[in-house]
Amino acid sequence: MSILNAIKQNGFAELKTSISDDVVKAMDGFERFLNYDFAERKKWTFDTARMVNSQIGYVPREGGINPMTRQPYDFKDVFHFDRSLLARAKERGLNVAEWKDWFEALENLYKKGEDICSKAAEELDTLHPGLKIMERIKHIEGNDILRLLHYHMKKGETGVLGRGHTDEWLFTVNFGENIPGLRVGEQGNMQFIARDKNTAILYPGKKAESLTNGDLKALYHEVVDPQLKEDFKDRFAVTFFFDANVPAGRMM
Ligand SMILES: [Fe+2]
Repeated sequence: MSILNAIKQNGFAELKTSISDDVVKAMDGFERFLNYDFAERKKWTFDTARMVNSQIGYVPREGGINPMTRQPYDFKDVFHFDRSLLARAKERGLNVAEWKDWFEALENLYKKGEDICSKAAEELDTLHPGLKIMERIKHIEGNDILRLLHYHMKKGETGVLGRGHTDEWLFTVNFGENIPGLRVGEQGNMQFIARDKNTAILYPGKKAESLTNGDLKALYHEVVDPQLKEDFKDRFAVTFFFDANVPAGRMM
């Protein structure tokens, strides 16, 4: 089945692809990175020209309340990877060699994200030739982001981590989580997606919905933590955003 057909049928597409090693490496590397103190981590923060998601590397989330989650912004740790990160880190004299394996895994996943989403965008072009999606994507090279998340949990606390919402950009690819927490569907009827570790989940955001006049629907989703106190683990997730430069002020 084509990616778009799957999205139309289920709201999202499941894509078999060998990612599990890189997802584990991405999470392990991030965990190791987070062992460094805040000042050290902040050396890895770089500004970009993007309107939103405007930092790459470590994204400090100090102070304030996120209107989407109604949690303090420092409720989770965020790391953004894109192709400019390594060069900029070298320029700043950071120890890139220490993170070689981690960045290799991130680069692999970034590429997978681009490949998968480009395929979906090509299908969109076939379906709606007037949109010229692929042409637009060429113009906005650098707007894709691989995002690593680590949620600060209190042991044994369960419940919603990310309130239900739809994403703003064209496509999101969820590469993996160490604990199943992503639920999709409609308000009041949310479901976990049963999948193995080599399945990526692709779903449309608001930009896909508006560009196709509603032919694709932005997928409503939330993140919950179903863990019990006894075997509690920190939660990590690896996600890719395709064409993620959306008007300022609309980003969670
Ligand atoms: Fe989201």
